[in-house]
Amino acid sequence: MGVTVGTLDLDAYVGAADAAIRAASSTDALDAVAAEYLGKKSQLALVQRTFGSLSDEEKRTAGAALQQVRSTLDGAISGRREALAAAERLEQLEADRLDLTEVVPAQVRRPLRRGHQHLISQTQAELEDVFVGMGFTVADGPEVETDWYNFEALNIPPAHPARGMWDTFYLELGDPETVVLRTHTSPVQVHLMEEAVANNTLPIHAVMPGRCFRRDTPDARHLHTFHQIEGLVIDEGITFTDLAGVIQTFTTAYFGPAMSSRLRPAFFPFTEPSAEFEITCAICQGAGCRTCSQTGWIELGGCGMVDPAVLDAVGIDATRYSGFAFGFGIDRCAQMRYQIADMRALVENDLRFVEQF
Ligand code: DAH
Repeated sequence: MGVTVGTLDLDAYVGAADAAIRAASSTDALDAVAAEYLGKKSQLALVQRTFGSLSDEEKRTAGAALQQVRSTLDGAISGRREALAAAERLEQLEADRLDLTEVVPAQVRRPLRRGHQHLISQTQAELEDVFVGMGFTVADGPEVETDWYNFEALNIPPAHPARGMWDTFYLELGDPETVVLRTHTSPVQVHLMEEAVANNTLPIHAVMPGRCFRRDTPDARHLHTFHQIEGLVIDEGITFTDLAGVIQTFTTAYFGPAMSSRLRPAFFPFTEPSAEFEITCAICQGAGCRTCSQTGWIELGGCGMVDPAVLDAVGIDATRYSGFAFGFGIDRCAQMRYQIADMRALVENDLRFVEQF
């Protein structure tokens, strides 16, 4: 006969507990078995609580016997727990499995929604195509410039009143150089001329599209972050007639044969003479409307003959070379071509707008 403590037959208790442990089919069920046989309300705990009435000698033997039962059952339970947990993990993995060979039936399938180039990118690409067709190459330059490239090399010395033409974002990087977000693409002209001088690769016939920044409050015709395309030709014997011809050829190539261009005297520090470049208002076809203030013309950008001071600044011999430059808004071109009333629509990313182009 086995050991009995109080009314509890320990062998029978361990036998019953063992059977229950083996029968437990989940870790939750096992927790319940552990509570039943080892917990505070188990028979084992109840018997332990009656120890007060035993002699010291009896306490020692009975205590050791109960401790033995506890550790036997603890061992059996943790062994079973490991086996059950492993099985449960496998089951979970099986449940999470994805059938990668599954074919979605056509009735259920939704069409793939593919993105496309934004109108500004499309416009930039088309403008590049037009100029490439006329023999220009395409170049780009940094969006963050030093004062030298954005202003000084373009014949705009520090504190010159002409700086007021551009509301500039300054980066607070401290000395030694003033660093700005470029206010126009004209500084790329300077990079190209410097490279051509360094590598002895004059002449230059290039366009330079890119993003520009100005501290402007956005409105229907302005964005603080916008796009320009710059043009630069430096060669021998270049005259204002070449400039006017390129502007007119570009205008009809991009906007269509019904559109015309005109140049009006203006001032830019880096060109002399300088002109504003206007095209027929696309909204009224030149008849005069509110958008063009009844003039029939819309200003697209500026242009002129490269000022000899700019050629000097980059070390090009102004007695041998001359050139012209122009710069105009890519966003403005898109606005004219598609008659977009408010330019802010270009950057608001409302899909109802974006998907139209
Ligand atoms: N950079 C000028 C601006 O953003 C536009 C411009 C005028 C560019 C004359 C030129 C130019 O290349 O020759 O206001």
